[in-house]
Amino acid sequence: MNRSKIGVFDSGLGGLSVLKELVAALPSEQFIYVSDAGHCPYGGKRASEITDRAEAITDFLLAQGARLIVVACNTATIAAIESLRASYAVSFVGMEPAVKPAAALTKSGVVGVLATGAALAGEKLHKLIERHAVGVRVLTQPCPGLVERVEAGAVDTDETRTLVRRYVSPLLKEGADVLVLGCTHYPFLRAVIQEQVGAEVALLDTGAAVARRTAAVWAAEQPSAALPGVGSLQLFTSGDVKNVSEVASQLWGSPLTVERLR
Ligand code: DGL
Repeated sequence: MNRSKIGVFDSGLGGLSVLKELVAALPSEQFIYVSDAGHCPYGGKRASEITDRAEAITDFLLAQGARLIVVACNTATIAAIESLRASYAVSFVGMEPAVKPAAALTKSGVVGVLATGAALAGEKLHKLIERHAVGVRVLTQPCPGLVERVEAGAVDTDETRTLVRRYVSPLLKEGADVLVLGCTHYPFLRAVIQEQVGAEVALLDTGAAVARRTAAVWAAEQPSAALPGVGSLQLFTSGDVKNVSEVASQLWGSPLTVERLR
């Protein structure tokens, strides 16, 4: 029996923070990852443009043998996942910012959500806040420029620190003691963000939860999931192959080969 693959995509390399958790949860599976670096960032784009990109990437992943797709991008999940689910027969697993665990964890009663402008503009996040953060003040903070810093591999730099400080300062002033990393690029900035906010502020992301959900859907849908197999990873990008390979390897912590998205 041919093993089915799991497709994963993001506007860029942020989704590697989710892919790490997926590979840890499903080490025998074959993953195909698409970084849409040629169209990154998604954060300032209209929902219709993001949906067009999500559909083009989904067509590619399905043609490559993917039978489940993880939308490893909060912005694309908010803009496009409903339309993807309506248009394709495969299952899609999307991102959900950690508002619910943050509301459960806060002691000060103030939570901050860091995300892209497009993700914060979506109705989905506001519904999540209404449903799961009753009695908690949830402050949202768009963070333009942070995705680009990660895409450039400029994680540990003064410029990135300055940007992070600018975005977290108003939240800390209001008393936030939990920050939700509502964009899959931000876990790569975790050390820098933690350094700026101090050890007593908790930073939450949902990569591991998405990996658990993916493993459950995969086991329920794929008979091949129970077979022993050798895991593999293929990466494609719509951006510059050389740049993307370099930064992907840096973020992953070991060399990765990236191919041109056809
Ligand atoms: N990683 C994407 C997210 O989770 C970044 C979106 C962007 O390209 O602006 O939202």
